[in-house]
Amino acid sequence: MGKLLKITLVGIILAFVAERIVNLGHRTNFSREVLPKDLPNCKLLKGIEAGSEDIDILPNGVAFLSSGFKYPGLISFAPEKPGEIFLLDLNEENVRPTSLRFSRGFDISSFNPLGISTYIDEKDDTVYLFVVNHPNSKSTVEIFKFDEEENVLIHLKTIKHELLQSVNDIVAVGPENFYATNDHYFTDFTMRLVEWFLGLSWSNVVYYSPSEVKEVASGLYMANGITMSTDKKYIYVADFLGRAINVFEKQANWLLSPVKVLQLDTLVDNLFVDPNTGDIWTGAHPNGKKLFLYSSEDPPGSEVVRVQNIHSDHPIVTQVYVNNGSLIQGSSCAAFYDGRLFVGTIFHKGLYCNLE
Ligand SMILES: *[C@@H]1O[C@H](CO)[C@@H](O)[C@H](O)[C@H]1NC(C)=O
Ligand SMILES: *[C@@H]1O[C@H](CO)[C@@H](O)[C@H](O)[C@H]1NC(C)=O
Repeated sequence: MGKLLKITLVGIILAFVAERIVNLGHRTNFSREVLPKDLPNCKLLKGIEAGSEDIDILPNGVAFLSSGFKYPGLISFAPEKPGEIFLLDLNEENVRPTSLRFSRGFDISSFNPLGISTYIDEKDDTVYLFVVNHPNSKSTVEIFKFDEEENVLIHLKTIKHELLQSVNDIVAVGPENFYATNDHYFTDFTMRLVEWFLGLSWSNVVYYSPSEVKEVASGLYMANGITMSTDKKYIYVADFLGRAINVFEKQANWLLSPVKVLQLDTLVDNLFVDPNTGDIWTGAHPNGKKLFLYSSEDPPGSEVVRVQNIHSDHPIVTQVYVNNGSLIQGSSCAAFYDGRLFVGTIFHKGLYCNLE
């Protein structure tokens, strides 16, 4: 069967499933029409044409970006091209992403990156980059060391574990330790559709260290982005189908205890915490149906939401940017650095706006 036909068929099934979910009543507003909300001084980033799914920014403004993710049912504008990690210096006036090289021996041909997270070792300032990878429909986590002099990602190890069956995003909490979200319970594609169809909340969060791997939170419809509060006491998890941000408190044994769920009205993807303010930024999907049943005539839109004071009784939720897909489609992350907003997408371009 032709690839395009396969993608179309899978898309139709997904759209059908999505429709059913809406009809089942426990997932309202899976697909919303949105009114545009523009920002001044926005530019598309050069060289980003096949996604900028997740971003992480180092304190000095150097950022990593994952690109080229492919998944059944999602469109790809570069289906034959392996995934890439781009490096950006957000201090530059004209930000120019450069595709990073990898150390020898790392299999680039099957590289299919999704969520990423950086970790800086305070002992020697080593920068580690953790990347969720889906090579050949498998799920792994790759740990790299960043060689700043040579602009190379040195591959240190590939992590596979039966509890890491469908990893979407990670947050590093040590040079070899992380929390990861599994967006599905099942690994088989048909069973995933069934899981979605029935609206099962079997998605979870797993803690990984070389000596211990365990489930630390569960009961999510589709766990997606994960990140940590600035004081490192809390873990924030996006529930894509639940259209919510779940707040968990870290325990001494790495277990997560639920604190609250902030309901939003959009399909929440990756999360980013502003280190200066603690605000949570997310790239989100207003229309799930358009996302999975792609049409260039009526593309999926993009929505950037900022949450302030999530721990207070009255968090402030602001829709910062909305586009109907005419400029940028399928936003999956948003990050803020020094007055500038970066908006990344699953399979489309990357946008950079100067808000000052
Ligand atoms: C669904 O969307 C409409 C229009 O944006 C909104 O008024 C309504 O509150 C939403 N429903 C839920 C359950 O979020
Ligand atoms: C999207 O918005 C632009 C204006 O920002 C408009 O020209 C275009 O027709 C809209 N497209 C859709 C599909 O609504």
